[in-house]
Amino acid sequence: MTDSRTRLLGLIGDPVEHSLSPHLHSFLLERAGLNYRYLAFRVSRDALGDALAGMRALGIRGLNVTIPHKEAVVPLLDRLSPEAEAIGAVNVIVNEDGTLVGANTDTWGFLKPLEIRGIPVRGGRAVVVGAGGAAAAVAYALLSAGAEVAIVNRTPERARELARRLSRFGPVGAAPVEALPGLVREAGLLVNATPVGMWPRTEGSPVHPSLLREGLTVYDLVYNPPETRLLGEARARGCAVIGGLEMLVWQGVRALEIWTGARFGEEEVLAAMKHVEGVLRG
Ligand SMILES: NC(=O)c1ccc[n+]([C@@H]2O[C@H](COP(=O)([O-])OP(=O)(O)OC[C@H]3O[C@@H](n4cnc5c(N)ncnc54)[C@H](OP(=O)(O)O)[C@@H]3O)[C@@H](O)[C@H]2O)c1
Repeated sequence: MTDSRTRLLGLIGDPVEHSLSPHLHSFLLERAGLNYRYLAFRVSRDALGDALAGMRALGIRGLNVTIPHKEAVVPLLDRLSPEAEAIGAVNVIVNEDGTLVGANTDTWGFLKPLEIRGIPVRGGRAVVVGAGGAAAAVAYALLSAGAEVAIVNRTPERARELARRLSRFGPVGAAPVEALPGLVREAGLLVNATPVGMWPRTEGSPVHPSLLREGLTVYDLVYNPPETRLLGEARARGCAVIGGLEMLVWQGVRALEIWTGARFGEEEVLAAMKHVEGVLRG
């Protein structure tokens, strides 16, 4: 039930029709009995400025930002959180009485599953495959948490550019794809931040299975399917594995906490994860 105090949250992107965020947020809002509603808005690039003006005018409390607006939205906001500033991308907007603040909860969402499992990051070596928006958030998160990061990308210039941009946050380098076997051998954590393995091309994997070994944690940002080929092969070879659905849910939980001031425990988040996975599996 809505009433005259109900506040609005939502998602802007293009397309948004298949987004899992409305399922996740509506589930958590209802469970916590919070008087908010979460809607998905398809917003074209041309209408982005108008959408933000509307957010201000209507007092919409918060918006998630997804493809293709995560970077385009940056110059349209009043302020950025340190994470959003560092990454150059925003996935959460908070409306503070008309001041629009851009934040990035992908970093927090990425680190949380590692923290829950007690997998140490500080002082370790991580290999991030990919150099797009997700890789930027992951590499920044890892550097902030004290890891050494190697970025490997199909287009090497993009990896070099990202490493250069993040170098003020810690030890980060770029390497060509041919260097992957050596880097993975030396690393404790391997992250897939590319769409390789994503539905419908689920036969793909960014690394050869021979590189996977016990003692390595393999983290795949792809969440559809929840168990990618990479994760299956990693599990079979004794690696610790983390799927992208966990990051997706935790980044959403963090956004909801910022917007509403509520706090969600692990049990509620686990229930939300099961709910979202059920939606994904149809
Ligand atoms: N779990 C989560 O919460 C979460 C959050 C964000 C993103 N993601 C997932 O992370 C993935 C990347 O997202 P993004 O936003 O970073 O995308 P993006 O900005 O478009 O970057 C894609 C990256 O993947 C590389 N790539 C694409 N196709 C490839 C292929 N066939 N072989 C090798 N490399 C390839 C690209 O390399 P080039 O530079 O050579 O083009 C680029 O570095 C997507 O699957 C997305 O769904 C998950």
